[in-house]
Amino acid sequence: MCGIVGYLGEKNAENTLLEGLKRLEYRGYDSAGIAIIKNGKVTSRKAVGKIVNLEKKINGKNMDAGIGISHTRWATHGKPTEENAHPHLSCDGNIAVVHNGIIENYQALREELKKKGHKFVSETDSEVLAHLIEEFYKNDFKRAVCEALKLVEGTYGIAVIAGDKPQEIIVARKGSPLVLGIGENENFVASDVAAILGYTKQVVYLNDGEIAKITKNNFEITDLDEKKIDSEISEIEWSLEESQKGGHDHFMLKEIMEQPKVIVDSTRGRLMPDEGTVRLGGLEAVEEKLRKIERIIILACGTARYAGLVGEYMMEEYAEIPVEVEFASEFRYRKPILDERTAVIAISQSGETADTLAAIREAKRKGALTLGIVNVVGSTIARETDAGVYNHAGPEIAVASTKAFTSQLIVLTLMTVLLGRQRKMSEVTGRRIIEEIEKLPKKIEKILGAKDDIKKLAKKYADYPNFMYLGRKYCFPLAEEGALKLKEISYIHSEGFAAGEMKHGSIALIDEDFPVFAIAPKDSVYEKNISNIEEIRARMGKIIILTTEGNKEAEKIADDVIYIPKTLEMLTPILGVVPLQLFAYYISCFRGLDVDKPRNLAKSVTVE
Ligand code: G6P
Repeated sequence: MCGIVGYLGEKNAENTLLEGLKRLEYRGYDSAGIAIIKNGKVTSRKAVGKIVNLEKKINGKNMDAGIGISHTRWATHGKPTEENAHPHLSCDGNIAVVHNGIIENYQALREELKKKGHKFVSETDSEVLAHLIEEFYKNDFKRAVCEALKLVEGTYGIAVIAGDKPQEIIVARKGSPLVLGIGENENFVASDVAAILGYTKQVVYLNDGEIAKITKNNFEITDLDEKKIDSEISEIEWSLEESQKGGHDHFMLKEIMEQPKVIVDSTRGRLMPDEGTVRLGGLEAVEEKLRKIERIIILACGTARYAGLVGEYMMEEYAEIPVEVEFASEFRYRKPILDERTAVIAISQSGETADTLAAIREAKRKGALTLGIVNVVGSTIARETDAGVYNHAGPEIAVASTKAFTSQLIVLTLMTVLLGRQRKMSEVTGRRIIEEIEKLPKKIEKILGAKDDIKKLAKKYADYPNFMYLGRKYCFPLAEEGALKLKEISYIHSEGFAAGEMKHGSIALIDEDFPVFAIAPKDSVYEKNISNIEEIRARMGKIIILTTEGNKEAEKIADDVIYIPKTLEMLTPILGVVPLQLFAYYISCFRGLDVDKPRNLAKSVTVE
């Protein structure tokens, strides 16, 4: 979704900002823009479409400025046009603003500002900020921004410059992430650390309600009443290399291939095989509270929610705690019934998803214990939950989530063992789960080694307009995740269903042009799955079966079979998802689509 990068220092600001914006491309956007200050004057340039279009506009007219702000926009209010692209300027052209988030009262502010003579050139909510700051600006720039923000309802992460203040950038945050990057004789601001990772690893995360004045050698954080706030510099663990493609054609393939390593990274130092349990440092402070928990609610969106659904089955079966999984976007608009015996777990790769964040805040207000399963260290959800576990999956750049999903499943398994061992789970069961986790990386490597077979299969099925994915028990959420992967990056209509539910309506869709991907490992529900597959076969549907190695029976009833190694039933989704990811990936490639940046989607959805 929208991205912000700002720079102040001795490098060429235009080049530094373009570089930063390119690193945010993965988030999804449809226009981009930049504003710099040279000789006391703001110059802005914008372009619709990819960042290369903006780059072309700057080429030959690079002013070698030392300060600037830039933005990638994902349209919410108004189409992706140059006028609507950020930065937005004040009437006198002295002030430039880039904004992430949504100004909810922008209509009222716009009308008032128009009455005062301000001229608007865009349809965006963001433009009101430039005019509002102009209205308050006498000679104290930061004060003007503070006053303007006090009138604003909604969410924002902003960076603002003024031509007559060429030594400073003002940034502020409420509900939309911003991070300051601290360099030597230079400072940065970005909405996502990926933008500045190539320049510095020293960062300061801004909290909601904070505003900062950044100069080349300094930064100062206050609240909107300009009361000083102490801050902490943190070190980013990820390397720039980790956030690049590493020889693969796409980030998505790189991230799929990384999964054996991700399992190792997300379990490192956490497994205690001898005692049949796990150690999760991030939960130690709340371990006693967890012992008393009687109910769990998992909140998440998209792929993270499907991981949560697998977690529900695991925790109920092995820890014997009732679990509900809720769409984060629905949760706070219901009347959630919570108490101190309920733990709410937010699962989020980015740690910034607006719906998940809002849901967790609501849960906190209602007195529940809030936990996070988050990949991005220092992200808002990670900071706002009472305790949590990091995935340690490394940066995930492709919009379609892959390695984050497997690491979420691993963390959920670890939490299940922890909660189970606090209750009735025996040491033997704990040990058995841990031993199986340790075998997963090799098994995933084996699946990845056969990726060319899946590529061939993808070629065969790339032109079908519809797909149905079926699964039962632990593999039901996997069917949904498989369908989501396919629709996200190939734009093929695909749906995931609980295999048993299919005959209550959806089977009407089946004919020879509607293939079915059945996830049917040799587990406790295998026979039931086979009955459902037979029902499809009787209706001439094409069938691909994903099953356990050695199950030759599958070849008799399916058009095509994909095999995965055997593991514990609860861990099957961790292996089963890999062929589903590869299948979707190759189909997208065969259809000639933008695999890493599918249309209309954003990596991190920071608006409701
Ligand atoms: C977006 C992404 C999905 C992701 C979801 C939740 O919709 O396109 O891939 O699963 O957000 O993101 P989160 O960062 O909270 O896991």
